[in-house]
Amino acid sequence: MSHARVAADPLAFCGEELARLEAAGLRRRVRALQSAAEPEVILDGRRVLCLASNNYLGLAAHPEVVDAAAEAARRYGAGAGSARLVTGGLTLHDELEARLAAFKGTEDAVLFSSGYLANFGTVAALAGPGDAVFSDELNHASIIDGCRLSRAEVFVYRHADAGHLAERLAAWRQGAGAAARALVVTDTVFSMDGDVAPLPDIVAACERHGAVLMVDEAHATGVVGPGGRGAVAGYGLEGRVGVVMGTLSKALGAAGGFITGSADLCAWLRNRARSFIFDTALPPPTAAAALAALAVVEREPERPVRARRLAGRLAAGLRTAGYAVPDPAAAVLPVVIGSPEAALGLSARLLDAGVLVTAIRPPSVPEGTSRLRATVMATHTDAEIDRAITAFAATRDG
Ligand SMILES: Cc1ncc(COP(=O)(O)O)c(C=O)c1O
Repeated sequence: MSHARVAADPLAFCGEELARLEAAGLRRRVRALQSAAEPEVILDGRRVLCLASNNYLGLAAHPEVVDAAAEAARRYGAGAGSARLVTGGLTLHDELEARLAAFKGTEDAVLFSSGYLANFGTVAALAGPGDAVFSDELNHASIIDGCRLSRAEVFVYRHADAGHLAERLAAWRQGAGAAARALVVTDTVFSMDGDVAPLPDIVAACERHGAVLMVDEAHATGVVGPGGRGAVAGYGLEGRVGVVMGTLSKALGAAGGFITGSADLCAWLRNRARSFIFDTALPPPTAAAALAALAVVEREPERPVRARRLAGRLAAGLRTAGYAVPDPAAAVLPVVIGSPEAALGLSARLLDAGVLVTAIRPPSVPEGTSRLRATVMATHTDAEIDRAITAFAATRDG
């Protein structure tokens, strides 16, 4: 019996592929962050101004949030120890779900241990083989991965184009019949562009064609809408969006993801979402931190307002410095450059000047749109934003 020759090192492709990524300017490396995600951070041993964190409200190191986490760790331990369906959920989890539901004005909420897992498990719990999912072309990877897990037929519509969505829904409904199930899913604030989906038109298309609407408020929660309640509340669409996802990891300064909606939707997810059922519950210190952060958001509605004002200040300054940037709707400002090398070059020059703004390259963004993704925190000072603008102006043409 003869055996085919096998490679000496079956993992050799990793090194070969990495060399290809390096040559294309697409290799990624993790730098050493040696401090909390504050407006200034210690990165690779150097203090730099940080315009790269999603800690939009500056709550990750807020004393009340940190104290709540420390107290919960002493009382309940560092880890939850199991999935909630196995040993039971802590009252902290129940309390956080109730507070999130109240914050979003819904009957109930379900916690997941990350935003990624909330999207991944929820899309697949709401759509299956034979169903259809309609997804914005710039949706987050966790939604795309949820679509794959669902094994439903996926229709991608043009970015933020409710007309294209309506056309695709109409054509599908005509072929599939009245009983077929459809899920439409979109980010509200898009993570790499900072723009907002045209929710009123998307809601109208869903209502016309009998589709469930799921929105991802990861970058909207705590930042946009009244009191930071998100884009659904901002548009006055509460009660007309069946499934609202959010994260605890960004403006709320902790970690975890959640879905808010009806009691039946949440009970269904506790029964069917694989990333809820088969995943250890949110660590107690994290749940307590998110609860404390939510209390700060509710008490200090000026924080989201300040974050958005600082994003506007940054945009105006960058435009004066010669950069083409959009009007920010939230705390994310894209500075589109083009090639990965050019984006990396600008990011490196800014870092030399003491400002951290990360270069975002494919596959996180489409080919030819590599960019710097600048983010602000409510805890940045005006002077810090101006310092960043000065650095951008000085490093513009390399
Ligand atoms: C739009 C969007 N959805 C979901 C996620 C995943 O959230 P988390 O980082 O909490 O897992 C992210 C974060 O990276 C995101 O940008």
